[in-house]
This record gives sequence, structure tokens and C-alpha cells, in this order.
Amino acid sequence: MPYAHITGWGMSVPEPVMTNDDLARIVDTNDQWIRERTGIRERRIARENDFPSTLGTSAALRALSVANLKPSDLDLIICATSTPEHLFPATACLIQDNLGATRAGAFDLLAACTGFIYGLNMAAQSIRSGAIKNALVVGTETLSRFVDWTDRNTCILFGDGAGAFVVQASEQPGGILSAVMHSDGSGGNLLTLPAGGSRHPATEATIREGRHYIYMDGREVFRFATKVMASSTEEALRAAGLAKDDVSVIIPHQANFRIIDAAARGLKLPIDRFVINVDRYGNTSTASIPIAAVEAVERGRVKAGDKVVFVGFGAGLTWGALVAEWSGPLPSPRKVNVGRYRLLGRVLSVLRRIERFIEGLIWGRRA
Ligand SMILES: CC(C)(COP(=O)(O)OP(=O)(O)OC[C@H]1O[C@@H](n2cnc3c(N)ncnc32)[C@H](O)[C@@H]1OP(=O)(O)O)[C@@H](O)C(=O)NCCC(=O)NCCS
Repeated sequence: MPYAHITGWGMSVPEPVMTNDDLARIVDTNDQWIRERTGIRERRIARENDFPSTLGTSAALRALSVANLKPSDLDLIICATSTPEHLFPATACLIQDNLGATRAGAFDLLAACTGFIYGLNMAAQSIRSGAIKNALVVGTETLSRFVDWTDRNTCILFGDGAGAFVVQASEQPGGILSAVMHSDGSGGNLLTLPAGGSRHPATEATIREGRHYIYMDGREVFRFATKVMASSTEEALRAAGLAKDDVSVIIPHQANFRIIDAAARGLKLPIDRFVINVDRYGNTSTASIPIAAVEAVERGRVKAGDKVVFVGFGAGLTWGALVAEWSGPLPSPRKVNVGRYRLLGRVLSVLRRIERFIEGLIWGRRA
């Protein structure tokens, strides 16, 4: 049975920074309150031309470059996102088209902020089954477009960005060792985007009532999160046959410093075992774990052979954890220049459209 290794990683965040002081100018809040209750100092906010697909594509190209893999080598693209660009087509297909990943299947996965862990686990299982060899998992968000900027309970928390991992098959033991996934739909009302789906399609009333914005019961979500972070970490470690002390770092979903601190206390682990960057990005939902992982690798906190735990929770309710032995790129004789694939992806996309147009003429579907 092949093993599923994490061989590439990349992130992309929009340039504009919104500080707590910037927020205090638009809602009744202040820097001290936000820092003390959440640990957040600033977050990135998408520009007009930043979308989950554009941020996700940039993160993916960086991940492919680290893995030394061409987009056309990909068999599968899973895009975990809480802010898809459309109900359909999937944001994963937009990324597939941008990359020119012409051989890949692509779909979106909606498990809110736990989505990246679910997606990694799905990619690993597809690889272990022998069905595929190379997968791309992307977590990408523009939450700022669904935030009510007059609601101080939620607008202080969220930010935009993307992260991506390449997962590859190898006979070498290691890589993704275990994962656990959980859900409890009875808590679906605690964190929700009520309208815009098929239950409450957009109407003048849904817009007037502000039902296209994130609704959250902060205290209840906080209570739920502090319970499941430690328990799912322990469960995934048991499944991998590892002890807490075997773990070099824990990379948690970045929602609130106090939630991470509670998890550290629950696990009786020092807080410096956790990777924390919520202060600079806020909660970027599915993107928070890969962004934290990329920064940890680039700062030398994660090295090949290290045992790493990813743990998260989110709307649904969903939660889960995944244990991996960090791998790094697989040995390869060739050097792929991923830089040129952004342009090549565009060219391929235009060629496909022209091909469809000509086919339409030949089959008489166009006037
Ligand atoms: C949202 C959250 C930061 C609020 O912190 P909290 O300590 O629970 O604060 P509370 O909601 O109890 O509010 C305490 C007080 O601060 C006020 N307050 C709320 N937001 C505020 C803000 N941005 N600035 C200033 N005061 C604020 C409240 O109105 C309340 O005032 P009151 O006591 O006079 O009613 C916290 O509950 C949280 O992080 N929850 C989890 C959210 C989360 O992770 N969501 C994403 C999941 S993926």
C-alpha cells in the first residue's frame, strides 16, 4: 500500500492589512479588547480583484514549486472553502482551469474551518487506495465578503487568505499517519450563513434582514471548541500509535488565542509546542492551518521527520485532527519551472474555449 506524503506547501494572502485600530474606526470596539479576548492584532482583507480562486491558485503554484510537480501531474484537486465563489461551478474547477491541471478531477469540500483536515484525509485515502498518485488540497477564503461590518461580535475575528499542500504517493513509509473526523449537525445553528442557499434563496427580505452575513453564537462556539481540540488531538495520536511527547508541533485552527491556550492546558502541553499566527491573520477558516504550516516550515519549526498534528473545528459543527510525519519533496531528477504555468494555464483555458466554440459551429448549435 502506498503512503501519502505532504511534499509541497504554499500560501497567499492579500496585501491590504486591517488593524484593530482600523476596525475601531468602523465599529464600537478597541485594540485592547480584541487582543485580550482573541489574540488578534490584524488581518488581511481581499482587494476587489482577489477571489478564493486567485488566492488559491497562487498558493497552489507555490506548493507545486516546492513539490517540483507540474499542474498536469495532478490527479485530484480538493478545494476546502467556506466562501466558494459560486454554488457551482466548484472553486476547485476554477483553480484547476487557472493551473491548467488538465488531468485532474476537482471538487469543493464544505466542512467549514475543519475543511482542510477533511480534505487532506480524503486526499490521503485516495492515494493509499492506489486510485491516484498526486493530489492538491487547497484551503482558500474571502470571508470579508460575508462579514457584517457593523457587527462587532463577528467582524473582528475573520480574515482572508489561502494555503495549499501537495500530497503524493510513495512506497517510503511515513507521511499522513492517521486522521479523525467528527460532526454534530445539532449545533448547526451556532455558526451559520443563513441565506443564499436553496432553503432561503436571496430575496429582498433576506437582504434587508442581513441574512447573507455570518451569524455566530460566540460563547457557545467557544465552549464547543475548547472541548474538542484536546480530545480529537488525543484520538488522532492514539490512532497513529504515538504519544504526545512524540509530537514536535501542533498546528491548530487559528480562531482565537484563548481557544488554543485552553487546548494546550487540556493536553498538558506547553503553549510553545503550538504554532500560532492568529495575531497577524485572524481566523481564515479553511486557510488557517495551511498558512500556519507554511510559516512554521519556512521558519524552521517543522523539519523532515518531525511528527506534526493538525487540529481544527468549525461550523457544522465539524471537528477533526490529523497526524503526519513531515516529508518534504520527493527526490526527482527533473526541475520543474512552475512560474510559467500561470501563463500556460490561461493559454490552455482559452484554447479549450475556442475548441468548444468550433465544435459548436460544426454541430450547428450556434446561429
Ligand atoms: C467572539 C468572542 C471573541 C467573544 O469573546 P467573549 O469573551 O466570549 O465575549 P462575550 O461575547 O461574552 O462578550 C463580553 C462583552 O464584550 C462585548 N463585546 C463583544 N464584542 C466586542 C468587541 N468587538 N469589542 C468590544 N466589546 C465587545 C459584549 O457586548 C459583552 O458586553 P456585555 O458584557 O456588556 O454584554 C469569543 O466568544 C470567541 O472567540 N468565540 C469563538 C468564536 C470562533 O472561534 N468562531 C469561529 C469558529 S471556526
